[in-house]
Amino acid sequence: MVHEAGPGFALPEGFLMGASTSAHQIEGNNVSSDWWTLENHPRSFIEEPSGDAADSFHRWPEDMDLLRELGFDSYRFSVEWARIEPQRGRISRAAVAHYRAMVRGAVERGLTPVVTLHHFTSPQWFSDLGGWTAPEAAGLFAAYARTCAEILREGVRYAATINEPNIMALMYALRAHAAEHGWDSVAQGARAAREAGAAAVDPASFEPDPEVVRALIRAHRAASAALRETVPGLRVGWTVANQVYQPEPGAEDIATAYAWPREDVFLEAAREDDWVGVQAYTRHRIGADGTLPPPRDAELTLTGWEFYPEALGEAVRHTAEVVGPGVPVLVTENGIATDDDSRRIAYTARALASLAEAMDAGIDVRGYLHWSALDNYEWGSYRPTFGLIAVDRHTFARTPKESARWLGGLSRERRLPAAAPLGSVPAPTSR
Ligand code: BGC
Repeated sequence: MVHEAGPGFALPEGFLMGASTSAHQIEGNNVSSDWWTLENHPRSFIEEPSGDAADSFHRWPEDMDLLRELGFDSYRFSVEWARIEPQRGRISRAAVAHYRAMVRGAVERGLTPVVTLHHFTSPQWFSDLGGWTAPEAAGLFAAYARTCAEILREGVRYAATINEPNIMALMYALRAHAAEHGWDSVAQGARAAREAGAAAVDPASFEPDPEVVRALIRAHRAASAALRETVPGLRVGWTVANQVYQPEPGAEDIATAYAWPREDVFLEAAREDDWVGVQAYTRHRIGADGTLPPPRDAELTLTGWEFYPEALGEAVRHTAEVVGPGVPVLVTENGIATDDDSRRIAYTARALASLAEAMDAGIDVRGYLHWSALDNYEWGSYRPTFGLIAVDRHTFARTPKESARWLGGLSRERRLPAAAPLGSVPAPTSR
C-alpha cells in the first residue's frame, strides 16, 4: 500500500529523480580489479566475494527499462576502470563500446545518465603501483578520464571523477595501520584483539593521511581538466560521503576539527567544480573523546547505522555552506539497508522532507538519486539490502519493491513529500 503525504514540495524544472549503483556492486566478475583480488584471496577478511553480483553487466537494459517504467528520469552508474584498462596502457575497445551503449541506452529511454569514473575499485595493476599515492597516479587517472571522454560524449551531463574520496582516504589509513602491525587487514587485527581479550581499534578514530588526501585532490583536478577539455558542456564534480558530525554540547570545536580531514577538506576542493555530490545516510555524534555510538534506544539499520533520515537535509546544508555559492548540489546517494521495505519508505519520506526544507531555504539542489536501484554487493556481503528493486541471487530476476513504486510515483508527480507519510512514523524496532 502506498502511503500518501499530500501535495508536498513541487520540484523545480529539470530536477533529477533517479537511483544510483556502482559497477563492482552490480555487474559481476570484475576480475581485473583490486577488490576482486582482495575478495578472492585465500586469507581474505572479506565475508563473501562479489561473484556474479546482480549480473548487470549483461542485464543493464532490463535495469534501465525498469527504472523508466517506475517513473524515474535519471540513473547514476559507474564505468569500471579495471574493465576499460585491464592492463596498464591496454584499452579494451569492447569495454568502451559497452559503456557507450549504456550511455546511449539511458538517453534513449529518457534517463539522464550521471556517470562515476571511479567507485572504490581500481585495476589491480594500479594498486600494485601503490594506488593513489604512486607518483604517476594523477597522470594515469587523467589518461583514463580521456579514454572515458568517448563514453561521456554519448550524452552525459554530469560526471563524477572519484566516489567518496574521503572514505577511500580512510581505507588507505586502515590498510597502513594493518600493514604496520603485520596484519592482512584491520579486520584481522580486530579479530586478534578480540581473541586476546583486548579492545579493537575503532575505525572511526582513523584520520586520513594528508599525503593521500593531496594525492586524491591532485587526481581529481587532473581528471576534471582532461574531461573539460575533451567533453564540451560536461559538468564535472566528485561525490563526498557526508558524515553529519553533530557535536554534543561543548564539543563544537572538537567536531569541527574532526570533520575537516575526514570530510571538509574534500568539500573545499569542490569549490572549483561544476557541482558536488552529497551522499548521506546517518549522523555521527561527536563528544569530547570523538565519535559516540548511536543513542541506546535508536533504531538501527542492517548496516548497524542509526535510522536518522534528517541526515540528508543536514548534509546538504553543511555541504552548501562549505563549498559556497555557485556550486550546485546533486544528491548522489541516500538510502537505507533494511529487509522491511516499509522502513525504506518511512526513511526516504523523512529524508526527502528534510531535503525539501533545505531547498526551500534557498540551497541549489539539482537532483536526488536514491541508493540503490538494486539490491547489490555491499562491499563484503549481500546481506545489507539497499535496493528499491530486489534481485534473486540465483536467477537474477528483478522484482521492484513497494518503495520503488512509491518513489517513482513522486518522480512522476514532480514533488517531494513535505512530511513523513501517514502510517510510517518511526517505530523503534530492531531495524
Ligand atoms: C558507497 C556505496 C555503498 C553505500 C552504502 C557509499 O559509501 O558509495 O558504494 O554501497 O555507501 O554503504
